[in-house]
Amino acid sequence: MIIRQENPQDHQAVFELIQNAFANEIHSDHQEEFLVERLRKSEAFVPELSLVAESEGKILGFILLTKIKIKNGKEEFESLALAPVAVHPDFQNQGIGGKLIRFAHEKAKEHNYTSIALLGHENYYPKFGYQLAKNFEIQFPFDVPDENCMMIELLENSLQKVSGTISYPKEFFEN
Ligand SMILES: CC(C)(COP(=O)(O)OP(=O)(O)OC[C@H]1O[C@@H](n2cnc3c(N)ncnc32)[C@H](O)[C@@H]1OP(=O)(O)O)[C@@H](O)C(=O)NCCC(=O)NCCS
Repeated sequence: MIIRQENPQDHQAVFELIQNAFANEIHSDHQEEFLVERLRKSEAFVPELSLVAESEGKILGFILLTKIKIKNGKEEFESLALAPVAVHPDFQNQGIGGKLIRFAHEKAKEHNYTSIALLGHENYYPKFGYQLAKNFEIQFPFDVPDENCMMIELLENSLQKVSGTISYPKEFFEN
């Protein structure tokens, strides 16, 4: 299996993969594939941080990191949002999601990003270094439990002097 940057020829396969991956997720709005389509066209999109896991020509997994800001009055800090990560149902629990997450972290670091935010399952993401956002002075603009709001420092202490509320691109709020 290889992980590589997504290209336009992958879009249809990625659409179907996301649809399948989230089909049985109770916390899903089943709109993730459309969110990805909007984000690809947005200013928040970083092509190098849109990644697929591929084996024998088949797309098995996908992960997307897009640009966000953490705003505090006049201060703004750049960060990334991880949304979504998806693995084809037939290939889940084989480590592909973990590999995609770790690979995306390395690519983000190469592009000088120092943190990532996500909303996700409280048992899954801490394995990869995510901590509760409430451990930092960072708020999410959504009405979701604290335990699902997470951040990772890609560089040690990179969030120590960062505080504020996450500002997501408008594409996150459209349908
Ligand atoms: C979440 C997801 C990307 C994980 O990918 P994966 O390749 O199956 O995960 P890995 O093989 O790397 O890791 C498996 C571990 O994660 C756990 N896990 C998998 N999905 C999980 C979930 N939704 N919530 C909590 N834990 C989960 C498994 O129980 C397993 O734990 P273990 O290592 O302690 O046995 C994949 O299951 C998926 O696509 N799910 C549907 C879409 C989704 O919920 N995406 C995340 C929200 S953006």
